[in-house]
Amino acid sequence: AAPPPASVLPAVPVEPSPDPEAHLGLRFPEGFGWGAATSAYQIEGAAREDGRGPSVWDTFAYTPGRVANGDTGDTAADHYRRYAEDLDLIRDLGLRSYRFSISWPRVQPDGRGAINQRGLDFYRRLVDGLLERGISPMATLFHWDTPQALQDDAGWANRDTAYRFADYATAVFEALGESVPVWLTINEPKTVVQNGYITGHHAPGIRDEPTAYLVGHHLALAHGLGVQALRATGSASRIGGALNLHPCYAADDSPATSDAVRLYDGYENRFYLDPMFKGHYPEDVLADQGPGSPLVRGIRDGDLEIIKQPIDILAVQYYTPIYVTTDGGTVQKWPTTQAAWQQVYPPGMYDILTRVTRDYAPPSITVTENGLPCADEVGVDGSVDDAGRISFLRDHLAEAHRAIADGAPLESYHVWSLMDNFEWEVGYDQRWGLIYVDYPTQRRILKRSAAWYRRVISDNSL
Ligand code: NOJ
Repeated sequence: AAPPPASVLPAVPVEPSPDPEAHLGLRFPEGFGWGAATSAYQIEGAAREDGRGPSVWDTFAYTPGRVANGDTGDTAADHYRRYAEDLDLIRDLGLRSYRFSISWPRVQPDGRGAINQRGLDFYRRLVDGLLERGISPMATLFHWDTPQALQDDAGWANRDTAYRFADYATAVFEALGESVPVWLTINEPKTVVQNGYITGHHAPGIRDEPTAYLVGHHLALAHGLGVQALRATGSASRIGGALNLHPCYAADDSPATSDAVRLYDGYENRFYLDPMFKGHYPEDVLADQGPGSPLVRGIRDGDLEIIKQPIDILAVQYYTPIYVTTDGGTVQKWPTTQAAWQQVYPPGMYDILTRVTRDYAPPSITVTENGLPCADEVGVDGSVDDAGRISFLRDHLAEAHRAIADGAPLESYHVWSLMDNFEWEVGYDQRWGLIYVDYPTQRRILKRSAAWYRRVISDNSL
């Protein structure tokens, strides 16, 4: 999630195209990994069960004024207890890949030291349940739920947290071994930097821009150490990082604007991609931060070699483009969804996939998130008609297909999200799922988009 653009246009609701289910006749490569994604704090609930420790998101959600309506992840979609029912729904949808995250404070309640076997057992049951149903598990090790005990010692501003992450990752790798064919290290480090440490509207709610980029460095270090940890177990599973990338475009054609776009792109994209693939931070960002900055002073000899560990797969999350003005601000060019920061621009999917292919040549790419929130309601007949979601997904998938045709090594795609869940600072106000969750009863209803996606998967074509 990017910070909301300084909007100059009113938001226009996303209208479904006249026949959102019309076939486009676009076939995907044989064996394409159709999937959907979730994360632990957003769906699991059971925040105090089986020895789970608190995370920064528990603390944040319990701080008055931080999350809409005072919502918390205490119950969420109750997935920790209902996982078997959810596994059956995943199978019924025909998903080939399911991306979920492992809660660090469930596995290691204090973020260091003792491992909580009951926490690991939950993920063992989940992974086995996926494998039994013929679905490929894709697990993210860190989706923002930093153990509170580590935050009490400065969290990601403290270099030591990267090493604690590597210990946690090793414990998870040893427990789940090769049952998980694809591992992802850190989800959207940029969101932690920007929302967690610059705007402060995500946990841990800090506003300290210079420190934010040091946090980014420590997250990158954790990624590299995590990759090393998997290799050290001798596992044949694949691993990569999950980055939300934002194609940046000029809001006008003045030459000064193209310089502003370049620096904006440095902060949005290259700051995360360059160290991972090239072993250095972008010069323009380093110069902009300055030699005395916490970032520059915090980079130690050998760090970049660790960060540059070869990865097997790059996970890309695409939601919105950004239009940059001459003064480095942003404007809105396309209609937004219910999320003020999200403009609907499907060609951005093509642009970002072909750009990472050209500039970084990853061995493989997976789209681990793409989707939108809709004003979903249960109709009188009990169905949920989210035609706008179908149009959105179809148009973005068509652009992904075009990128594959032009050489992007895209092997799988995951809708955000499998089901409605806790959308961070807006709580339960936004519904992002293919599956509707009726929170008072926890009843699940497959939305119209779920039935459409099932058809796309079984046809392997749009
Ligand atoms: C990205 C995040 O990884 C996910 O947790 C979030 O719900 C979606 N974007 C939608 O904002």
